[in-house]
Amino acid sequence: MQGIANTGVFITGGCGDIGQAVAKRFLAAGARVVLADLLPAATGRAAAQALHPKNAAYVRCDVTRAASVDRAFAAAKKFLGRLDTAICNAGMVVNQPFVDVTEAAWARTLEVNLTGSFLTAQRAARLMLRNPRQGSARRGTILFTGSWVQDTPWPQGASYCTSKGGQQMLAKIIAQELAPHGITAALVAPGLVYAGLTKKIYDRDKSFARKVDKVVPLLRMSTAEEVAGSFLFLASDDGAYITGTTLLVDGGATLGRRE
Ligand SMILES: NC(=O)c1ccc[n+]([C@@H]2O[C@H](COP(=O)([O-])OP(=O)(O)OC[C@H]3O[C@@H](n4cnc5c(N)ncnc54)[C@H](O)[C@@H]3O)[C@@H](O)[C@H]2O)c1
Repeated sequence: MQGIANTGVFITGGCGDIGQAVAKRFLAAGARVVLADLLPAATGRAAAQALHPKNAAYVRCDVTRAASVDRAFAAAKKFLGRLDTAICNAGMVVNQPFVDVTEAAWARTLEVNLTGSFLTAQRAARLMLRNPRQGSARRGTILFTGSWVQDTPWPQGASYCTSKGGQQMLAKIIAQELAPHGITAALVAPGLVYAGLTKKIYDRDKSFARKVDKVVPLLRMSTAEEVAGSFLFLASDDGAYITGTTLLVDGGATLGRRE
């Protein structure tokens, strides 16, 4: 894919299942990648080494803490040289019936998924604005791992779906404000991925699994790898004119399934 080789990529939640799959695709296309996550430094460094001995690095980063995000970007900038793509991917979920949603779960979900995306995207934009303008070339792109539930309510998803809906609006605001400065923003919205957050719940909760099994017109969940290529596309030259929108990778889940 054109326009990825030798670029600098920063991925939050980079040690999770989708983050790892996305990092692999960028590395295979010749990018340098920083994984930002909550793992202790030694474990995170080993994860980065396993992906690529030279072009991948790890920084410890709690996306809910501005000072931690600042430190992570400062370290990333040293490794990457230039930041071209930032991916706000760190996320969490707690499914609770609306009347039982606890303030703690609500606050934490919004903090990680939405405030974490805000802090990451803002720091990324500040760095990208330092990239020199060269004609109509982009100075950078800010991507988000959204979700099909950003538009479609999912049972017991009050805090998660709300956080993803907020993230979608955040991406649109960034896209509109920063387009004149040569920065694009977009979301990749997976459907139900048999990986990461969904896999953990699917494997332990039979009633959740029954709901999932009924919902996807393509009759299966996706893999993390099937989601990863869309990030690459949006960051590549082919995605340069795409901003403020969502690339839905949901196997038709949003359509609902008809027997
Ligand atoms: N798995 C799915 O079906 C699915 C579907 C749609 C969207 N998503 C989204 O994909 C993204 C990645 O999720 P995943 O499924 O790979 O799950 P995952 O649990 O494998 O990865 C999430 C990563 O985020 C990290 N993280 C959590 N809190 C953090 C914090 N405060 N600071 C930094 N990192 C933090 C975790 O350590 C983990 O590595 C999330 O934004 C999620 O909402 C997942």
